[in-house]
Amino acid sequence: MNITAIYAGTFDPVTRGHQDVLARASRMFEQIVVAVAASPGKQPLFDLQQRVQLMQQAVARHDNIRIEPFNGLLVEFAAQQGATVIVRGLRSVTDFDYEVQIASFNRQMHPEIETVFVAADREFSFISSTLVREIASLSGDVSAFVDPLVEQALKKRFEQR
Ligand code: COA
Repeated sequence: MNITAIYAGTFDPVTRGHQDVLARASRMFEQIVVAVAASPGKQPLFDLQQRVQLMQQAVARHDNIRIEPFNGLLVEFAAQQGATVIVRGLRSVTDFDYEVQIASFNRQMHPEIETVFVAADREFSFISSTLVREIASLSGDVSAFVDPLVEQALKKRFEQR
């Protein structure tokens, strides 16, 4: 089987938790498309182009992962990209109800696209991009949570403010 899976998020910024889910997904599926959502409602710190670029650097060692920006419905974008699997990371039980609800909506819209959950490594299960941004904005050390290139980008971004 030659399966293309899609892993979507705002990635503002990409964290070691996302990288961990992606590393495992890249071993499970032949091709992975990382869909970087515009998410204008979240008013991201990094613009879409920067988030795509940071993601490209974060997954550079995997030759079966490509990055695409997207706007709109995830299932529609997945179908356009030829993906038949949506990968979602599950960090804890609090993610579970919401994720099952989203998966059910997505299945209703595109029954041929299956959602697969990947359990986040315990080491990363508490990370969120919002808290990483908050710590960086207060000059805290985020090196345990993000790639060194992301750490540098956060420093630069907050120096500009
Ligand atoms: N490690 C670390 N952090 C993780 C993580 C992991 N494994 N998995 C999730 N997170 C974090 C994310 O960084 C995010 O943090 P934040 O809220 O502080 O930014 C949070 O957990 C929630 O993640 P997620 O649910 O993936 O939200 P998101 O904003 O990153 O992405 C989309 C959401 C874009 C995937 C979703 O809104 C979407 O599909 N939108 C398209 C519109 C659509 O199809 N809507 C209909 C749905 S039925």
